[in-house]
Amino acid sequence: MNELSTALKAIGLDTVPHEPNTYPALNPFDIYRSHITELLAKSSGVDAKIIYPVLAWTAKPENGDLQLAVPALRQKGRDMKAFAEELAEKFPESPLVQPPVVNGTWVSFFFKPGPLTSIVIPMILKSGSVFGFNPNLGLRDADNPSAGRKKIIVEFSSPNIAKPFHAGHLRSTIIGGFLANLYEGAGWDVTRMNYLGDWGKQYGVLAVGFDKFGSEEELVKNPIGHLYDVYVKISKISADEGDAVKAKKEEITKLTEKGEDTSALEAEVKKIQDEGVDEQARKYFKRMVDGEEVALGIWKRFRDLSIEKYKKTYARLNIRYDDYSGESQVKDESMESAANIMAEKKVSEDSEGAIIVDLTKYSKKLGKALVKKKDGTSLYLTRDIGAAFERMEKYHFDKMIYVVASQQDLHLAQLFKIMEAMGRKDVAEKCHHINFGMVLGMSTRKGTAKFLDDILRDVGEKMHEVMRGNEDKYKQVDDPDKTADTLGISAVMVQDMKGKRINNYTFDMDRMTSFEGDTGPYLQYAHARLCSINRKASAVVSDLPSDLSTIDISILTEQHAVDLVRQLALWPDVFLNTIKTQEPTTVLTYLFKMAHALSSSYDHLQVVGSERDSMLARLALYTAARQVLNNGMRLLGLSPVERM
Ligand code: ARG
Repeated sequence: MNELSTALKAIGLDTVPHEPNTYPALNPFDIYRSHITELLAKSSGVDAKIIYPVLAWTAKPENGDLQLAVPALRQKGRDMKAFAEELAEKFPESPLVQPPVVNGTWVSFFFKPGPLTSIVIPMILKSGSVFGFNPNLGLRDADNPSAGRKKIIVEFSSPNIAKPFHAGHLRSTIIGGFLANLYEGAGWDVTRMNYLGDWGKQYGVLAVGFDKFGSEEELVKNPIGHLYDVYVKISKISADEGDAVKAKKEEITKLTEKGEDTSALEAEVKKIQDEGVDEQARKYFKRMVDGEEVALGIWKRFRDLSIEKYKKTYARLNIRYDDYSGESQVKDESMESAANIMAEKKVSEDSEGAIIVDLTKYSKKLGKALVKKKDGTSLYLTRDIGAAFERMEKYHFDKMIYVVASQQDLHLAQLFKIMEAMGRKDVAEKCHHINFGMVLGMSTRKGTAKFLDDILRDVGEKMHEVMRGNEDKYKQVDDPDKTADTLGISAVMVQDMKGKRINNYTFDMDRMTSFEGDTGPYLQYAHARLCSINRKASAVVSDLPSDLSTIDISILTEQHAVDLVRQLALWPDVFLNTIKTQEPTTVLTYLFKMAHALSSSYDHLQVVGSERDSMLARLALYTAARQVLNNGMRLLGLSPVERM
């Protein structure tokens, strides 16, 4: 704040404009909004509290940097056009903004370029990797940091053990990772949770299958792939047995009609029913449910090895978890106590031996939800109910988000409504479903991708091919394999985050790995190019100041430089806006716009080859741009590369 007040004094402002709940030291736009608010409040008599929130971004730069919709000031009985004129006329001379421009009932404010540059560039260079983020937003009490931070659980990825990692899991991983970063950047206390699908009769099936087809060696080498193979094989047998029983039963019916003997066939059916995979699996799962050590031990080993493998893959996406929970971890007590409350409050009812919750009384769409099967076993929904209350008890979260495909909209709506019906609106209100659309045609050259590792490998290989297309550049890359891998991951992630979450998109390997168009590799290229400018400048100027914020930047008056500075100044506001939209595209749209502004500026703002003062000032500008790009990319979960 001291540095800021010195900088503002130099421009001609004696005090730092500071309306309540704003952060002038972190966000240039906060300074401008507060400044304009203060001047307008004084000259017009309208309450600052009314003015501040009405000062908004403009859709086009021609409309200014901030704009005021005069009718929104709610001054009854006045002619709005005349009032707009009056506001502009009475607006005093300001060191920060040009005289306002009136257009109908709108008043536009343009920031004076020189002062803006002198505020924004040093702020970015000083804040560095935290520029744009705001750790104060997560405080329980903004005026009293010792009251602690708000707590959020972000549950995301949540694949099923021994089943393919499908597109829904991929999107949940990417979007969830981003949301966790977003809340962390806002100063929340974030718990990243992976809720594995690791419970149910199918794990009995898997254990039976492992007994038949499993290999210790394969399991250790490639647990996820191996368990899936085993599961496929055993499921086939189970399905064949099912078909056989059906065929035999039909045969029995026929024979009975003809009055012939069916005892041999009946014995065969009974044998399958008593000893087949299904029955073995049921018995095995029962042993797991009963907590039998041997059965649980084997299952736990599958789970642990899978998690270990997953951890490595998630690390490639810059994701780590604080809690590997899962359906298996939900305690019977939690589910029972929930069941008791539901019964007591008449939320649930008996339906032919099963227990259901009739949610149609709240909304037809919610339907009737099954919470206990006839045989007394729990379901996916039952486990989610228990899990939510356990998490509340363990973490006391202020917010919990479930990052799950929109195919499960109904499931989560049922879950939240049931909690509410149980009298726990307090918990239900804190739970949010962040949903997203489907990925179409997610197949790679090696067939339909089943595992995250395969997807990343294939995209990395494709990226390597694209890089080889430019031989000269390719030769300069230190570790092409690693770079191709990173670029491939960026390609997948950017393609996923580019549109609104709810939209479906088509997995298009050629498009996502292209350097042209708004792709991951394009963004990486923009970053690498800025790094390269820095390297080249350092090689030319031997006495480069270690603190670039001391460089005289007042000479950055070219239109391209000014446009770029205006873009950079927006980043903290883009971050704030992203917290509202919870959409990665809010960040990406901004970053692409900035990357475009950058690429059109290079011809006009050369660094190496310009005279010293210009070179240094432009270097400061590009270093600030690199920082903003870097911060935005990391927020999305990308690893910005320095060379490619
Ligand atoms: N494992 C589930 C699936 O693959 C997703 C879990 C979503 N989270 C939840 N709490 N239900 O469909």
